[in-house]
Order: sequence, then C-alpha cells, then structure tokens
Amino acid sequence: MAIMSTSALFIGENKNAAAVFSLLLERDFGLDCVSAVNSKHAIELLKNEPHAFGLCIFLLPATGVKEFLEVLKTLPRQIPVMLTADDAHLNHCTQFLPYHPLAAKIAYSVDWQIISTAITRLLRVVDRKERKLAPFCALDANLFLRLEESPYDLYLKLSDDKMVLVFRRGTNILSDDTEKYQLKNHPHFYLKAQDYLQALELFLNKIKETLKAETPLHNDKLSSIAMFTHQNMRQMIQRLGLSDTAIEMANSSIRSIHKMLNSNDKIAEHFTKFLTKKNYLSEHCLAIPFVVAGMATTITSFPAVDLEKITFASMFHDIGLEDLEMAQVRHINDQVERNWGSAKLSVIKQHPYASVELIKKLSGVPADSEKIILQHHERPDGSGFPHGVDYKKISPLSAMFIVAEEFVSSVYDSGLDKMNVDAVMDDLALIFHKGNFLMAFKALQTAVGHGPLQLIKGQ
Ligand SMILES: [Fe+2]
Ligand SMILES: [Fe+2]
Repeated sequence: MAIMSTSALFIGENKNAAAVFSLLLERDFGLDCVSAVNSKHAIELLKNEPHAFGLCIFLLPATGVKEFLEVLKTLPRQIPVMLTADDAHLNHCTQFLPYHPLAAKIAYSVDWQIISTAITRLLRVVDRKERKLAPFCALDANLFLRLEESPYDLYLKLSDDKMVLVFRRGTNILSDDTEKYQLKNHPHFYLKAQDYLQALELFLNKIKETLKAETPLHNDKLSSIAMFTHQNMRQMIQRLGLSDTAIEMANSSIRSIHKMLNSNDKIAEHFTKFLTKKNYLSEHCLAIPFVVAGMATTITSFPAVDLEKITFASMFHDIGLEDLEMAQVRHINDQVERNWGSAKLSVIKQHPYASVELIKKLSGVPADSEKIILQHHERPDGSGFPHGVDYKKISPLSAMFIVAEEFVSSVYDSGLDKMNVDAVMDDLALIFHKGNFLMAFKALQTAVGHGPLQLIKGQ
C-alpha cells in the first residue's frame, strides 16, 4: 500500500539551514518540512506520528544521533534518514556514525544538486504520490519579516473556505500586525499558488546568502516574534483569552526589555540562548509577562513601567539555574528534600541570588526588578525561600509576579482546559488570600474570566 507521507522531519539547531531545507523540500519534492530542535524532540514526533514522515534529515553535529537511529529501527515502517553536515564536521561525523543502510552522508552547504540527488535516491524507498498545489499555499509568516514590503498579496486562513487579505502586494509588512496574527494562532501567511512558487525562490536565495556568511545570528535579529514561536506558549496565551490591550502591553514591554539587552552583548547572548530553547524554563519566562499584563489591565492606571519591571524579572528570575527540573521546583517540602539531596537543594534555594548576580552585570536594569527576582519563591505564609518572609514583607509587584508564576506553572502542562483552570484557581484562592496577594489574585481572576465582571481598564 502506498504511504501517503508528505512531510519531512528536519533535525538540527541551525535555523537558517532548517529554513533552506524547508523551502527546497517544498519546491523540489512537495514535502512539508517539520523541524525538531534536537534528537529527543524528533523521537517524540516520530513516535507520535510514525506515518506522517516520508524522510528524515539530520543536521550534524548533534548529540543523540545514535539513539535516534536506534528508535528509527523500532518504528512500524522504515523511514529513510539523510545525515548531513557542513564541511568542517563531515569527516568527523563519518568516523563516529554507525553504518545505516538508508543514511546518506553529505555536506549541506556544498551543492543542493548533490543533496537533491541523495534525497531522490532516498525517496525511492517510499511510495510518494504527486502533490498538486492547492489554490492557496502556506508559508511561515516569519519569512516575510525579512522583506520591507510584500511582493505578493498575503492572506490569513480563517476557515477551510475563507481567506482574508491582510497585506496587499507592494504594501509594508507590519511586524506588529504579523506578531498579532501569530499570537492569534495564525503562524502562516497564505499566497496564491503562482505567487507561492516565486516566493519560495525569493526566500531561498535570501536565506542562502545568510547561510553562506554563516556568522552566528546576532541578538537583534531575534525579535520578540521569533521568541514567540514556541507552540505551547502561543496556544497558552491564546487560550487565556486575554484582552488585545493586555497582549499589546506585554509585547511592548518585552520589546523594550529586549532592546535594552542589545546594549550588552555578553548577557544578551546568554539570555537569547536561554530563552530560545523550547522548554519550561524559557516558556514560563515569556508567559508570565502576558499573565501579568492581563492582571494589569484590571487595575486602574497600572503604570507601564511596573509591567516592565515585572517583565524584566520574569526574563531573568531563573537564569541562575541551568537545570530544567530544578526550575520546576516551586516549593520546598519533605518530598523535595528527599528527592534532591542537600547539595542540589542548596542550588535551588540559592538560585534567586545567582540570578541577581548575573543581572548585576547589566546596565539599565529597571528599579525593583532585583527585589522581585529575590522574592520570587517567597510565599504569603512565610514558607518560601530564600528568606521565608511573609506577605507583610513581600512587595506588591513581587506578589503579582508570584501569583502569575504560580498560575503559569500550574497550567503549563494542562493545555489550559477549563476544568483544570477552575481547579487551579480554587487552589490558588486558598494560598493567595492576604494583603497584596489577595489583590493580585483578584486581578488574575478577572483577567482569566474567573472574577466579577467589574473590569476597570488601565492605561
Ligand atoms: Fe520560575
Ligand atoms: Fe525560580
């Protein structure tokens, strides 16, 4: 029976290489390209949908290649995999990689012709049907931010039979609008089929130029939009049902912090690496400003500068922690003490200080942000750390932060279904019922539609 896989799985951290492969696979093979950041992610994707992929392309060097190949062998059907590397790594990789009957080892940066031939050879093992172009075809909206104005009419897809024109040919691509669409879960622009083929060529040439230079991307190329492409977080923010005002406030706050970071290359690099990983650490850092912005819109005249302080704190509060699991420890109880042991426990307890130490190297840190970071694990009843102070000593902004983080952490894995949010809000009501915490909790209730409808708009 023919396998109807029309997707290729690309595994690699180099975003430019991923973009080039994605465009070429689409153009020459009619394959959609799904990107995985590492082998673990790729294994998850393969296990969830083994029939979705007709080809895997693994960009080396990377860890976990052997494990990845092992998993491939266990799948219900064989998926061809192409291992590629740049010139510098090719020799090295061919030495340590095990023999794999379907693997082709080639250099990605040399010649698409060579790669294309290898893919054609690999694809013979799958029975692929010719794909016909639909009247409208989708391209990643981020690609268009590389252009000043759009050479094509760009559409959003509202439903299977409804397209809406958002940027007319020859008009400026507005990054704010694009970002807004992405946040509303429209990560693609749609083009008419004839434009689509031209657009593929255009982007391909543009990205190839960048790839040739192959210098690491500087931080200023990573706009807040690029960071917002984490699927979990986008869905989370969308499902929170925050007002447009709140989303705009959070975005502008994140942008201004990001701008400030560009003035300090060293920290900016550390921060970018930290934030662009797809995991709990980076995602909750980005989600908190949105929740707080939602809370802020329910408070009369909440100062924008206060949102910036919280946003800054949110970006950096856990930066002193490398370990993903450690970052998920919110409170220390008997079980946590047993599981972690004293050395690691002390790292957890000290991480608010470690984060503050790191940000001390930065100039222009908003006042009060350090305090929020230091207090982000304190609790209203004094059971938190590192100081164990209670609600009387915890600042109003720290209280907002703590409530928002507790909410984000509680719903992070749940996908925000209603039943779960109801239960989370009930739990939080029992914890945050005093002083500044009560105010913050009420703001959260209103922001996520669990409170009385007496919404007072902030500025
Ligand atoms: Fe955190
Ligand atoms: Fe933390």
